[in-house]
Amino acid sequence: MVTKPRPKVRTRTLIQRKRKGERITMLTAYDALWSSMLDEAGIDVVLVGDSLGNVILGHRDTIPVTLDDMVHHTAAARRGVESALLVADMPFITARLSPDEALRNAARLVQEGGAEAVKIEGGREVCPAIAHIVESGIPVCGHLGLVPQSIHQLGGYRVQGRESDAAERMRADADALVEAGVFAIVLELIPADLAGEITKRVPVPTIGIGAGPDCDGQVLVSHDLLGLGRDKPPSFVKEYAHLRQDAQRAVQAWLRDVLKGKFPER
Ligand code: KIV
Repeated sequence: MVTKPRPKVRTRTLIQRKRKGERITMLTAYDALWSSMLDEAGIDVVLVGDSLGNVILGHRDTIPVTLDDMVHHTAAARRGVESALLVADMPFITARLSPDEALRNAARLVQEGGAEAVKIEGGREVCPAIAHIVESGIPVCGHLGLVPQSIHQLGGYRVQGRESDAAERMRADADALVEAGVFAIVLELIPADLAGEITKRVPVPTIGIGAGPDCDGQVLVSHDLLGLGRDKPPSFVKEYAHLRQDAQRAVQAWLRDVLKGKFPER
């Protein structure tokens, strides 16, 4: 695919895009092959998500993902990205012990992994850490709604913020994240009307996943979008390809040719 060189995407680019009413695109990648493909395709933000755990490392959820895992995969993704903004997730508990510990962990993702920003799950409880990281020069993206690192506390992967008190807490969390200095907020699996309301309320872009069409941008796990997963993707995903089937067909064609002595040809 031949693409024109494009300007570097920075955190301020995303805020300008919100002001102009232009949508933002974010997809996940965990290595250089994938991040270069997304970057060349014109994606604004490459997210090294801790979905690394489920998608690549074979875990059931994101909880076993370590900071070392994230640093390793962020550094690999870094090597494929030129124009997109590279954001790395802070994995389970690494932003929660203390603001200083959170800063040390964020610094590893930036210094060793080459991330340009980090993403932190949670609301008001993580704001002291977020403020400390932002004041130290590292941009932070927030993440509200279904926060997979708290899956045991949430009791499953289900829509968050349906009840009025939960919706009210989320509005207050969004305000607090803005106050702490985030440059964007991911909204995961919340009612579309609440996502639209938060999007109007905050000055920074919202990036939705399973949060309806009224966010400033959209994010998906790229393996879901491309139909690569073993399991059926969540219902909010639209599969734009079925690469798992296509790849398996190609592998089986090769396998048959090898078994029949047709490959390699004489
Ligand atoms: O870990 C991840 O991939 C994410 C996105 C799904 C938002 O946090």
